[in-house]
Amino acid sequence: YPPHISEKDGHLYIGEHDTNVLAEKYGTPLYVTDEQRIRDNYQSYYDALKGYYDKVQVLYAAKANGNLAVMKIFASLGAGADIFSAGELHLALAAGMNPDYLLYNGSSKTTEDLSLALEKKIRVSLDSVDELRQLSAIAQDAGVTAEVSFRVNPAMEVPTHPKIATGLATSKFGIHAGEIVSAYQAAMDAENILPVGIHCHIGSQILEVAPFAKEAEVLISVASEITDIGVKLRFMDVGGGLGIPYHHDTDPVPTPAEYADAVMPVFLDGINSIGIKPEFWVEPGRFLMADSTVLLTRVNSVKQSHKKFVNVDAGFNLLARPAMYDSYHEVVVANKTGPDYADDAKRDVMTVTGPICETGDILAHDRLLPAVESGDLIAVLDTGAYGFSMSSQYNSRPRCAEVMVNGSQEGLMRRRESIIDIKQTMKDLPWQK
Ligand code: LLP
Repeated sequence: YPPHISEKDGHLYIGEHDTNVLAEKYGTPLYVTDEQRIRDNYQSYYDALKGYYDKVQVLYAAKANGNLAVMKIFASLGAGADIFSAGELHLALAAGMNPDYLLYNGSSKTTEDLSLALEKKIRVSLDSVDELRQLSAIAQDAGVTAEVSFRVNPAMEVPTHPKIATGLATSKFGIHAGEIVSAYQAAMDAENILPVGIHCHIGSQILEVAPFAKEAEVLISVASEITDIGVKLRFMDVGGGLGIPYHHDTDPVPTPAEYADAVMPVFLDGINSIGIKPEFWVEPGRFLMADSTVLLTRVNSVKQSHKKFVNVDAGFNLLARPAMYDSYHEVVVANKTGPDYADDAKRDVMTVTGPICETGDILAHDRLLPAVESGDLIAVLDTGAYGFSMSSQYNSRPRCAEVMVNGSQEGLMRRRESIIDIKQTMKDLPWQK
């Protein structure tokens, strides 16, 4: 376990809190997040980079968990945010983040998105020359100058799930190396546009540091070419951060220090030889959030079929990752931990399944767990990144609550939805009255 997760008297704890007590008090399913863990994850990432370079800025990837309480923690730590929608922009500003450290990313923005960015003085990471043309027109109308970066497509294969490898030559993101200089030239020539940055993101849940060093090489070579045509670079943004060891016992555990040792020398040598001193930006989401959070889910029933199924009250409506990416999350029976349940005679191989009407609604396959009965509590670990944020109301299920713990304190950071929340956006059709 990471340090904020522990076992006491047969129960699983997060920080100082018994998960069983929290589940009783707030109901299940329930996401529970530890504030101190977020702060510690942030500090380790920031300190490792800062050890190499004084102009480092973290932009938290708001998509990992966009709860305002989470955004406020990052704001208090001095982070900005990678934002991918008007909603994320709104939340980042509401949390008090500095607009100077927000970057409006995305490959498919509306003209309203671009106008909003200009109005709020947020820099835009452009994904196409078409988008550049549109932003230039909007900036001219508004009589302001838009500061921009381009997203570079580094044409890199990376060791992760294909759906979240975002810098492949064939992926939808960014502008290829062969066209990037002409894109920056177009930005230099465009009215009311000032190119000030380079942006890239190679993919998520990467457990090796070498691909990030390779990415830095690509960005340095672009930086050199565009400096030659007169671009004055204020930042180089390398995109998302390290992955995390979802398999606690077998995954490699790359540290922020190893990341920094691999990436920062490439960056520093590069900028020194070009003769520039841009800020170094990084946009971690998963590393900062994933292990801060557990999803607590109650066992509704147990069934011995061709295998043993444990039917719980959370499914891919609340945690999409296993169904969507075949992701692995550790699960713990939160009311049956410790030596009393350790011996194999008291354990069984079980498959934990949700309440959704699809065969693929499986949170965990074939796990050896203490024999479970209805009413037991299961904790799904490492669910702080892309957990709640990817939830849905499929099968007309209200989304669950989110709780934050901080030392001895605990509180709701999002209430549970009800059927009223589901129904209230629906309208009576005039011909059905
Ligand atoms: N920056 C950009 C432009 C991104 O698209 C992403 C993630 C990040 C930063 C943050 O990457 P991280 O540090 O979290 O690896 N839903 C998937 C992950 C999708 C990530 C998409 N982009 C999952 O549950 O694994």
